[in-house]
Formats: sequence, structure tokens, C-alpha cells
Amino acid sequence: MSEPTPHTASLSLGTRRPAALEHAAAHVLRAWTEFDQARETESPISPDLRARLALPLPEEGIDPLEAIDWAAEVLDTSMAQSRPRFFGFIGSSGLEMGALADLLAHSYDINLAVDAGAATALETQAVDWLAAFLGYPAATGTFTSGGTVSNITALTAAREAALPGSRLRGLAGATPTVYCSSEAHYSIVRAAETLGVGRDFVRAIDIDAERALRVDHLRRALDEDRAAGRTPVAIVATAGTTLTGAVDPIGEMADIAAHYGVWLHVDGAYGLPAATVEACRPRFAGLERADSVTVDCHKWMFVPKACSALLVRDTQHLAAAFAHDEAYVPHAEERLNAVDLTLEYSRPFRALKLWLALLTHGAAAMRAAVARNCAQAQMLHDRASAHPLLATLARRPTLSIAPLRAVVPGCSDPDAHTTALCARLQEDGRVFVSPATIDGAVWLRPCFTNFRTSDEDVTALVDVVLELGGHCAGLHE
Ligand SMILES: Cc1ncc(COP(=O)(O)O)c(C=O)c1O
Repeated sequence: MSEPTPHTASLSLGTRRPAALEHAAAHVLRAWTEFDQARETESPISPDLRARLALPLPEEGIDPLEAIDWAAEVLDTSMAQSRPRFFGFIGSSGLEMGALADLLAHSYDINLAVDAGAATALETQAVDWLAAFLGYPAATGTFTSGGTVSNITALTAAREAALPGSRLRGLAGATPTVYCSSEAHYSIVRAAETLGVGRDFVRAIDIDAERALRVDHLRRALDEDRAAGRTPVAIVATAGTTLTGAVDPIGEMADIAAHYGVWLHVDGAYGLPAATVEACRPRFAGLERADSVTVDCHKWMFVPKACSALLVRDTQHLAAAFAHDEAYVPHAEERLNAVDLTLEYSRPFRALKLWLALLTHGAAAMRAAVARNCAQAQMLHDRASAHPLLATLARRPTLSIAPLRAVVPGCSDPDAHTTALCARLQEDGRVFVSPATIDGAVWLRPCFTNFRTSDEDVTALVDVVLELGGHCAGLHE
């Protein structure tokens, strides 16, 4: 084994490399094995760990194996979305091949800002595979840190398309507007704030009984804004809302977008993988007509964060918004670099985890896992709606979110009870759910996006909610 040269010795693991790698691998293997089954409680942070987490900056380091143990203890005492009974927010799974891809990618630390050789070719292939998986005719795409960045990237391109030259001259007196449902993710508003559209010019269009955007109201808003001399920049269809998983009518919105000559963006950060499931596909009809789509591979394609993708039908739109010439960004002939199509300069090799996941498991396994999660939401909804002490929304889940609450006869404040129950469930640790307010009422809002979740885990969720939610007094009074 070659020894590190003296000048690298202080920051190289040197002869400790194999031991450090084996030690970290043992922790990973233990974690993966543990994730196969739910654990009964979440471990509390030990006083010893708390003390270590309050230590000042170390001037000298410690043994790498001991340092890895400290890190492993932190991870083990944290809320891990990889666990099969994590039903909070919109989780993920920390897919094993994705985690290995991250280790490999971070070891080589390739930057995909300009042509990075084979890594760039792989990124292109990963975009093609993702587009084929979703059934979207992408000309190109870019991997980003999350749905938030994918959405702002899309709206930046949309702004430049609606107001050519706005990247040079600013808005120059124009009043751009953006349209989305009242239940679109906040990242759309955030993008409008950042791009100079302004929050007040995001038209939050009413929703229907299925919680999908009302196209008649969309048309009316567009007419009003046009008549007032404003410039519609983008219509955003949410394909899987964060609150309940509702899918906007993409096809009808595509008709409207075509009629008014406005960019159509589909925010499928959470829900778009469901377009690959035969039973769900009709909900996504018209997807192929969108100018751009967001999908978070770190949500329902199971790979670890951060891995979102923005796919577009026309490369030139991204180039028009982002391409530039700087002395420190070499351009080979007339070819566009990745940084000519996106916001970021330091671009980690995010595509590798999606590519390695698809190469190892294949698209069919991915689709089957998404379909299983949808079935689990239906199963939870059916069980809860049939139980006298549980309540659900009237409509069956569209995708994989199935809100429920415990019914306590005589309880004077069901919202306070549900809020207290949610806190109690989180404290208990057997399952993790987060609360959500739907039409002014508080619900437990389980979301299934984990390939490790089994039907037994769904049953356990029902059991624990019934066990802890059966009492009103004591929970919030
Ligand atoms: C529909 C939708 N869009 C965008 C986002 C933001 O994604 P990220 O957290 O990856 O930035 C989310 C997050 O849950 C989402 O559900």
C-alpha cells in the first residue's frame, strides 16, 4: 500500500482508509438492515451525545473511526425518512443504490457545470430515461437540488419566453402574471417573488370538489389580466398537490395555454411518478403538451436527496433564459454547457443516483413500488372510513395521501384533539405522521412514498392512531 506524501498526510486518511471505509460500510449495512423493519420507538438523544454536540471547534482531530461512530449516532437519533413507518410530509426512501451512487459521485466530486466527459453523457442519458419513464417528450432536462429550484428554473424560462429580453432589461414596465391552483406548492409563489412577478400577481385559482384547479376560473383570470394589459407568463398545473395529492386537469389547461399562447408548466415534484402507473395515467392526460415539467426523484422515485429534474420540450427556451459567455466558462465550439441551461454553477453528479437506481432495478420495479404506495393509501382510506372511530375525507385518495382523524364521541374540539394526537404520535415514535389543515380542519396526513412500507405498516398506523387517539380528555384538555 502506498503511503500518502507528507503534504497530503494531514488531510488524507492514509493507512486508515480501508478501516474507515469498512467501519462506515458496517454502519450503512446495519442501518439498511434496520430499515427493513419498523422500529418500536425513536431513540432519544443521549446526554453524552448532547454534550458532544455542544463542543467548540476542535483544533486537533480525533480518530476517524471514532468520528464515524459519532456521526452514526447522530444519524441513528434523527428522524430518518428511510424508515418504513415514516408517513410525514412527503418523504423518501434513501434507496440503497442511490446512497451508493452518492458515495461514488462525492468521492470523484465531478462538477457538471461544463462538459465533464462521460458524466455529462450519463446525465443526458438519465434525462432521456426519466422522460421515457414518465412519458414526456423532453428535448433536454437539468437535475437540480429540488422541486423549488426546478420550478423557479421553469418560470425563469417562461418569463423570458413571455417577455423576451427581460433578463437584460428587467420587466421594463410590464406586469407579468402567473396562474396556479390555490393549493399549488409555495415554491411557485416564491419563484414569482424572486423573479419580480410579485406574490400579488400569482393568481391562486379556485379548486373544485376534487381539489383540482377550475379551468373556467382560470380562463376568467386570464381574460381579466389581458384586458388590464398584464402579461400572462405561465400557467402551472400541479400534478399531485402537497396537501392531498390532487391532480389538476393538465389536458384542459394545455388547451387554455395554447389558446392564450402561455407557457404550461407541470409541477409534478411529488406526484408525477404516478403517471407511470396504468390506473393513474388518465389523470395525467395532456402531460406531453406541457412546456416544462418538474419531478423530484428524491420523493417518489425513492433516491436520496437532493435530486430533482426539470424537463423541457424545447432546449432553446432554457438557453434563452440562461446561456451566457464568461471568460471563466469555456465553450467548446457552439455547444451549450449545463450552466447555459440552469441556475447553478457547482452541479454535483445528481443524475448518477437515478441512473444507477434505474439500471439496477429497472423501470418496472419502480412503477410497481409507486403503484403499491397508491394501493396503501386506498387501503388506509378504506379501513379508516369503515371504522366508527376514524374519519376520512369524502373522496378516495387520488395518489398516495390519505388524510384521517380519530373520532371521539362528545369531543368539543376535534381540531385541538387532532393536533394533540399528532404531537402524541410523534412523541410515541412508532409511526411518524404530520398534521395538515384541509378546509379549515386539522387532519393527520399520512403520505406513502417509501418502497419499504408494507401493508402491515399501514395496519400499524391505524392501530396506533386508534390506541392513542381514542381519548379526548388528557390529549388537549
Ligand atoms: C408539488 C410540490 N412542488 C414543489 C415542492 C418543493 O420541492 P423541494 O422540497 O424538493 O424543493 C414540493 C415539496 O413537497 C411539492 O410537493
